[in-house]
Amino acid sequence: MEGEYKREESAALLVIVVLAALSLASLLIAFSYYCYISNKVSKHLKSLNGGKKEEDDEEKGMQKPKDALSVKEEPEVPVATTEKGGLQLFTYKQLHAATGGFGKGNVVGHGSFGSVYRGVLSDSRKIAVKLMDRPGKQGEDEFKMEVELLKGLHSPYLLGLIGHCSEGGHRLLVYEFMANGGLQEHLYPSGGSCGGISKLDWDTRMQIALEAAKGLEYLHEHVSPPVIHRDFKSSNILLDKNFHAKVSDFGLAKLGSNRAGGHVSTRVLGTQGYVAPEYALTGHLTTKSDVYSYGVVLLELLTGRVPVDMKRPPGEGVLVTWALPMLTDREKVVQIMDSALEGQYSMKDAVQVAAIAAMCVQSEADYRPLMADVVQSLVPLVKNRPASKSVKAINDL
Ligand SMILES: Nc1ncnc2c1ncn2[C@@H]1O[C@H](COP(=O)(O)OP(=O)(O)OP(=O)(O)O)[C@@H](O)[C@H]1O
Ligand SMILES: [Mg+2]
Repeated sequence: MEGEYKREESAALLVIVVLAALSLASLLIAFSYYCYISNKVSKHLKSLNGGKKEEDDEEKGMQKPKDALSVKEEPEVPVATTEKGGLQLFTYKQLHAATGGFGKGNVVGHGSFGSVYRGVLSDSRKIAVKLMDRPGKQGEDEFKMEVELLKGLHSPYLLGLIGHCSEGGHRLLVYEFMANGGLQEHLYPSGGSCGGISKLDWDTRMQIALEAAKGLEYLHEHVSPPVIHRDFKSSNILLDKNFHAKVSDFGLAKLGSNRAGGHVSTRVLGTQGYVAPEYALTGHLTTKSDVYSYGVVLLELLTGRVPVDMKRPPGEGVLVTWALPMLTDREKVVQIMDSALEGQYSMKDAVQVAAIAAMCVQSEADYRPLMADVVQSLVPLVKNRPASKSVKAINDL
């Protein structure tokens, strides 16, 4: 009896041991499976995070170093983000790199907004960067106006805004680069190889006159509501490497009209010598004020004289006052012509351009022509210039 009891006891013990071994084994299996799965999951998560980092880097315009040794700073990648209206948003660092650190050697001009630098983007596009040097509300407003206005205006005769940068206190505007700079630099070259005498020939001047007229025609007649430039002048006509003209700075110039009281920007008053008399006297501004300024530029192209030069003999200091009485007298037109143009034009053409200029600068604003009329009158005077005629671009990189 006791022996039977002992056998039963050891059988039960065996069952317990086997059961315990089985549960231990299944626990071990479960644990290894857990380890296997968690390892897989963590690997998957790691790969996801890695991908996200790459995406982040791309968004920031950064390039991944190819290996540990190439950690030295990569060149900027100005693949800027694009906002509505097709304008690119640049970082200050990108424009700093594109202009050689805003180096003095890259300065192409100075204006009331600030200095203008030439630059190259990593996709080889040439740009002009305007760096605002007047922090504060007025500069900020002008900056915003330029960006907002230019977003909606597109014409081959207007200077295109590529993008901008608004980072911390920095405000920069990025334009297409015009290799020959402003028209005034070519009309009044200061010394150098040409000894101060303009190399712009008659045909090129007529082409510039026509293209600039088309730029204003677009602003006045193809945009609703019309845009009044307010600061049309020879430095705001920019020339590309083939001397094709584009009108610039209409955004900056437009600003300020509604500014009640406070500081009045010089742009609102325009530039001396270009401002229509009714605007100077009453502040009343219409598209016909731009037509007057256009007439002054046409006179600069004909005469090679700046709008105001008080060093000239008495009566000759103000270009319009001096030229106007001679513009409509066929015999006298020759007396106002730029001597650098001698032998390049027919008297018939010169008389016609002088007549257009006379209509534009007349004191009665209502009688001034529309820019569309000016374009129509100039078209027959513009010959197709062979490309080889252009002198070398002064700002060519
Ligand atoms: N996109 C450009 N490409 C090449 N050169 C440029 C460009 N924009 C401006 N410049 C050069 O920089 C000069 C200064 O231009 P900016 O518009 O700043 O001043 P401004 O026209 O002389 O006066 P304002 O500030 O009254 O317009 C121009 O005369 C021209 O030579
Ligand atoms: Mg300008």
